Amino acid sequence: MKIPENGISREGVLDQLRAYRAQDPDWREGKIFGHVFHAEDDVVDTVEQAFHLFMWDNAQDTSIFGSLRRLETEVVAMASNHVRGDEQVIGSFTSGGSESCLLAVKTARDWARENKPDIRQPEMILPITAHPCFHKAAHYFDLKPVIVPVDPVTLRADIDAVKAAVTDDTILLIGSATCFAFGTTDPIPELGQIALDRDILLHVDGCIGGFMLSVYRALGHDVPDYDFTVPGVTSLSMDLHKYAFAAKGASVILYKNNQLRQHQIFTHSGWLGYTIINPTFQNTKPGGPLAGAWAVLRHVGKDGYSKIGEALKQATDAFIAGVGEIDDLFIMGEPDICLVAFGSDTIDVFELCDELKARGWYVGPLPGAMGIKPSAHLTILPRTTANIAALLSDLRECVAIVRERAPSPLIAQFKALVSGREVATLSDEVIGDVLAMVGIKDHQLPDRRADFNAILNELPAPIVDRIMTSVHNGATATEVTEPIPEPSNAVRSCR
Ligand SMILES: Cc1ncc(COP(=O)(O)O)c(C=O)c1O
Repeated sequence: MKIPENGISREGVLDQLRAYRAQDPDWREGKIFGHVFHAEDDVVDTVEQAFHLFMWDNAQDTSIFGSLRRLETEVVAMASNHVRGDEQVIGSFTSGGSESCLLAVKTARDWARENKPDIRQPEMILPITAHPCFHKAAHYFDLKPVIVPVDPVTLRADIDAVKAAVTDDTILLIGSATCFAFGTTDPIPELGQIALDRDILLHVDGCIGGFMLSVYRALGHDVPDYDFTVPGVTSLSMDLHKYAFAAKGASVILYKNNQLRQHQIFTHSGWLGYTIINPTFQNTKPGGPLAGAWAVLRHVGKDGYSKIGEALKQATDAFIAGVGEIDDLFIMGEPDICLVAFGSDTIDVFELCDELKARGWYVGPLPGAMGIKPSAHLTILPRTTANIAALLSDLRECVAIVRERAPSPLIAQFKALVSGREVATLSDEVIGDVLAMVGIKDHQLPDRRADFNAILNELPAPIVDRIMTSVHNGATATEVTEPIPEPSNAVRSCR
């Protein structure tokens, strides 16, 4: 595509955008689990209006846009209070969970450079359930990720394995509250004790679960300890664009105190421009997400979040009970909030995900690793609460269909193709054959992905990473061949 020689009218371009978007599933129907965290229309409208109010303002220099400094301070204060931070707890507003977690790791690295200068190759301990953004952080900031298993039944970090993995080079432990996949919380008090004993840092990743855990606690539900009241916790990330229902681009990273937070800040004056003081990764920083986050916290309020939290809890309990009545399925671990995954010993869950998708349910297939079986994940959201009975009914029917289906011959073909070869060093040619075998054409994934997922699940993670990088790299380099819909009102100028 090229920029058009003559501008298209506002209505024209908006029509084209709507036509593009019409091809996507509508998240308002509550059949997509995750991706869009949506509360009721009134909340969505409030966030949109607040976002628009500040969408052109720039939080890069809050000495000019003082209102944005105030909004950030107040959002951070509300977040800190929500996770029981004391008056020392301090933080920053960021663009999302990945930025918050990356900042926590960069801060730990720079803290260690100052406080543990003998360490040459700093290490970070990650339970296998930790979000990949920590691996990205390790990659960007040159830390060694040390992966430890989770308990196979509870799916919470195996504390003995963590203790055994700590070395003199360890600077940071990661615990999830909750993890994305199963909604389970790692034993944060035990991790905190290890951090204190070894004089290292502990980051609690509450990006997806931290907000709702606190709401559940306030409702009187049984919630594991995970927040700033736990000794040894030094930082905590919590997304507002997830279970606080802010617009995307909204998270906070909180630190125990500002001696720690100082390592997050990048300042540079040695050039021929203004002095840059960047507490987060962005320099130019949009005001919209911040205003949206401020507005949603104040508009929904504790009473509103309690109401939403209780509805989510009831829907999750109903879903768990329904799955319990299906012979072939079981719930993975014991979810602490409204994130659940189910697995099976008898049927192929990847096939099940495809069947559900064919009926419009976007349940996420999860690979297995370290002795944990593959499973299927749901992030239960306000708009899914009304759909639980329909979902369970389709789930029962899909299970019956998949149970009767003969296993795909492709897995055997795949095994024959790679047999006798060292899978860790498969050539590009063999990988190309594997991709063709599972129906990847022109770098596009097939609609039904059970075979693809099953085969990926057989391969070591580095090979899967190579395959997926190549699929993505090819797909985004390819020119889209579909025609752009004609604008219905093709007035030739926007001026
Ligand atoms: C536990 C956890 N941490 C971090 C992230 C990364 O957040 P984001 O997608 O906002 O970058 C996610 C995203 O789902 C998550 O579930």
